[in-house]
Amino acid sequence: MAEPIRLSTAESCRRWVREIQANGKTVGLVPTMGALHEGHLSLVEHAKKQCDKVIATIFVNPTQFGPGEDFERYPRELESDIEKLQSVATDACFSPQVEDVYPEGDSTYVDVGSVAQPWEGELRPGHFEGVATVVLKLMNLVPAEKVFFGQKDYQQTLVIKQMVRDLHVPTQVIVCPTIREPDGLAKSSRNVYLTKEDRQRALALSGALSLIQQRFSEGVVQTSELETEAKELIHSTDGVELQYLALLAPGSVELAHSAEPGVVAIVAAKVGETRLIDNLILK
Ligand code: PAJ
Repeated sequence: MAEPIRLSTAESCRRWVREIQANGKTVGLVPTMGALHEGHLSLVEHAKKQCDKVIATIFVNPTQFGPGEDFERYPRELESDIEKLQSVATDACFSPQVEDVYPEGDSTYVDVGSVAQPWEGELRPGHFEGVATVVLKLMNLVPAEKVFFGQKDYQQTLVIKQMVRDLHVPTQVIVCPTIREPDGLAKSSRNVYLTKEDRQRALALSGALSLIQQRFSEGVVQTSELETEAKELIHSTDGVELQYLALLAPGSVELAHSAEPGVVAIVAAKVGETRLIDNLILK
């Protein structure tokens, strides 16, 4: 398979997209921060099925990291990322510099409002403002027909959908399922931070979500009961510090009244020094 075309300037990127579209073909956009794993590559594969050409972006976006977070040490491995993109036949890769995305003197930010406030928004002030702003910029730099995101970052998908709707962005948002390790841990670029012990402890997150699904399948519908059992599982795991666990109404960040299919169980915890999030849509 050919290596993806490397695009590094905004101008070359727009030209590439426009040329494809001038020939009546469609473009799918997969925004990432790199350190690619099978979760990211699955987004490319979904995009390949739905669009004629696929472009992935690799950009560690400084504005979505808070003070004391891992912006500096976030894994940056462009060459091996390009090889991974090549393995799934990605057509192009756009890896801009910070100044290409945030031109000197820029001062415009996107504040999406209430959907960005609870949960991740509360624990990571400013995070979703950074996400929404960079995603809008990327969608303007790469005016694709469709943009692909992972269910793994559930609240992020809601924030992006809200922004796209409110600002009339002419790009369709597609959400793809979470890819997991064989033992259930959701794939994440941050899993490389986990020590061997932490890697084992991290299973408490997916374990708690599976427990909720299992107890719901057995007929438990009271959210407080499901939450309590799942929280107990996490509290009983040494080295895991629960930040939140909740059942949310389908497609929302509001608490669910009772468990039903489509309700989303969300969890965030610190495993050693590493912060992980996960979620599961009840079946
Ligand atoms: P990043 O964490 O690199 O993730 C890029 C995309 O991959 C996101 O849509 C994320 O939800 C998806 N993804 C991550 N892990 C996944 C998994 N295990 N299964 C399926 N999809 C998965 O999310 C971001 O970057 C940034 O916030 C970004 C949207 C690029 C803006 O900077």
